[in-house]
Amino acid sequence: MKVLGILGSPHKDGGSAQLLLAALKGAQREGSKIELVSVYDGEIKPCIGCIHNEDPNCKFPCIFEDYGKILLEKIYQADGIIFSTPVYWFAPSGPLKILIDRMTCLENMVAYGEPSYMEGKVVGAIAVGADEGAVLTTGYLITTMSSMGAIIPPWGIAYSLKSKNAIRDDKALMDAINIGLLMAKLIAILKGEKRNLTFIDDKNLLEEIRKEIFQELKQFEVKENYGKRTISGSRI
Ligand SMILES: Cc1cc2nc3c(=O)[nH]c(=O)nc-3n(C[C@H](O)[C@H](O)[C@H](O)COP(=O)(O)O)c2cc1C
Repeated sequence: MKVLGILGSPHKDGGSAQLLLAALKGAQREGSKIELVSVYDGEIKPCIGCIHNEDPNCKFPCIFEDYGKILLEKIYQADGIIFSTPVYWFAPSGPLKILIDRMTCLENMVAYGEPSYMEGKVVGAIAVGADEGAVLTTGYLITTMSSMGAIIPPWGIAYSLKSKNAIRDDKALMDAINIGLLMAKLIAILKGEKRNLTFIDDKNLLEEIRKEIFQELKQFEVKENYGKRTISGSRI
């Protein structure tokens, strides 16, 4: 099972990245192959609404040859997707919203007699802010994904208002870990296995994962000193 983490923040060591890493590590512990991508790592052209046209039509793959197309292919291949975004004025960041608009090509396959290509994928949502709007932001994400045919697992959202210190927010961190754990378990259930979808409150697991994330952020700081602001799937 493949779980894709989509980072909606320009800060690869920020609060959204911290909680996304926690969620991915949860999914990994339940046997998922994980990958982390950022919407800030390439150009994602805004949707031009082909859905209204006869030609070109809105279908997968999207007509644009850009970084957005690469991300859409990764979404198509994934069994589970975790969005993690900063709260930018009570909403996801701009580039993430643009990617979501572009996901219309996956959903609009219904217009071609096929199921939505988002149908049956398991999706979780994380938002990190400094003040207000995190619940609105995760609410937007899960409502939109459900409307595209995705399945939201129990305890499928996590949020923190501690900004760059989200990693020190025990409740948010445990919630993020549970998104990954429960997402992977739900994917297994959908594949015919028997699993229990219970929230896990495990302080040892929390500290273990927090330590791993701090270690990775430390490595990132070293990398940043050399001017490399990159984070990749191979890093985790
Ligand atoms: C353009 C912009 C808009 C923001 N709007 C909000 C907001 O509505 N609510 C909030 O709680 N924080 C808001 N913030 C603060 C960020 O959500 C906060 O700094 C967050 O930690 C950023 O996530 P990151 O550390 O993963 O980059 C805003 C920040 C920016 C740059």
